[in-house]
Amino acid sequence: MKRGLIGRYEISITGGEKVSAFVPVALPPAPPIDLSPDRQRKLEEALMALGRLDSVSTLLPDPLLFLYAYVRREAVLSSQIEGTQSSLSDFLLFESAGTPGVPLDDVVEVSNYVAALDHGMTRLQKGFPLSNRLIREMHALLLRKGRGSEKMPGQFRRTQNWIGGTRPGNARFVPPPPAVVEDCMAAWERYLHDDGQSALIKAALAHLQFETIHPFLDGNGRIGRLFIALLLHHERLLAQPLLYLSLFFKRHRQEYYRLLDAVRTEGDWEAWIDFFLDGVTQTAGDAVATAQRLTTLFREDTERLQGSGRSAATVLKVHTAMKERPVLNLAEAARRSGLTFPSVTKGMTALMQAGIVREMTGKKRGRIFVYDRYLSILNEETEPLER
Ligand SMILES: Nc1ncnc2c1ncn2[C@@H]1O[C@H](COP(=O)(O)OP(=O)(O)O)[C@@H](O)[C@H]1O
Ligand SMILES: [Mg+2]
Repeated sequence: MKRGLIGRYEISITGGEKVSAFVPVALPPAPPIDLSPDRQRKLEEALMALGRLDSVSTLLPDPLLFLYAYVRREAVLSSQIEGTQSSLSDFLLFESAGTPGVPLDDVVEVSNYVAALDHGMTRLQKGFPLSNRLIREMHALLLRKGRGSEKMPGQFRRTQNWIGGTRPGNARFVPPPPAVVEDCMAAWERYLHDDGQSALIKAALAHLQFETIHPFLDGNGRIGRLFIALLLHHERLLAQPLLYLSLFFKRHRQEYYRLLDAVRTEGDWEAWIDFFLDGVTQTAGDAVATAQRLTTLFREDTERLQGSGRSAATVLKVHTAMKERPVLNLAEAARRSGLTFPSVTKGMTALMQAGIVREMTGKKRGRIFVYDRYLSILNEETEPLER
């Protein structure tokens, strides 16, 4: 439905140039979202896909393990949309062994993202409301070190920003002037607690509105995407926060950006909702498939190792450590498995001989081990974008 421009432009003169900053009207849209039979069906499909993901995740032998992997994959993908050059392997290597294979800023960025997400989830689980305050706390972690630490972590902006172009005058889009950001965000927060809508529609609308307001100097894309996972979990669509749309947005980057603009100028919220719901259905389906492949992989490897004679118990403990952290050094494997250094070394050697684990440095000291097949499943489509 075309509603026309869903806001107004505030014209100012900045640096001698005319700047039109866009101020959106508050959610929900008027007239309300058109839930045509087709759209209703899309919504139901998305909800069913989420339901399947939810039940698969409760049946998993170890849901925390999947959460660990998924959160990191999401952090890498979401950061890549913003140009981070870290791959998932780079990041896991950094996390487990402190060795960055890429510029430190890139891996630090991903690690901040994980911290922000963990913080948000923990706060929600303890009953803290999904609010601007929580969003700002997460933002403080997202930009705490590395790139962006001078971009007012944890605070809404007090200056004009813009998207695309080299200055507001030639920008693709100029978000609201700083003086109205507080008000826009207060209205945005009120909308979150307005219960009328399906949580999925709410997540879709709130994400887009958040990007339009662009309340921070940097990190708006990442916080806006984190917010989707947070809201779905908070509204109990998912017991585990396992749905991350960044891969979908990365695959369909042009369309994602196009819709962000189109909704604003044409008021076609429905076009965005359709895209978003397709994304949820696809992503939830992918997550179920991945969980099943990983479960099979782990089961097959475990079965093989169970036959490895007297040392089977030790080998299985090292295998468990590798399931928890697919990139590991021996010290960390010993700590996780509770085994002595010599036992871990023996267990790891057995895993290498079984072709399950590979040593990646080729050195004698400071060796690092990778659970190859596990990592390659996680790695699918996580290569950085070309600059
Ligand atoms: N034309 C647009 N209108 C509104 N939002 C946009 C537009 N183009 C991109 N965005 C959003 O802005 C994000 C980038 O903003 P930024 O503050 O740099 O976030 P981050 O640092 O996480 O990249 C994109 O990921 C996207 O979500
Ligand atoms: Mg940015």
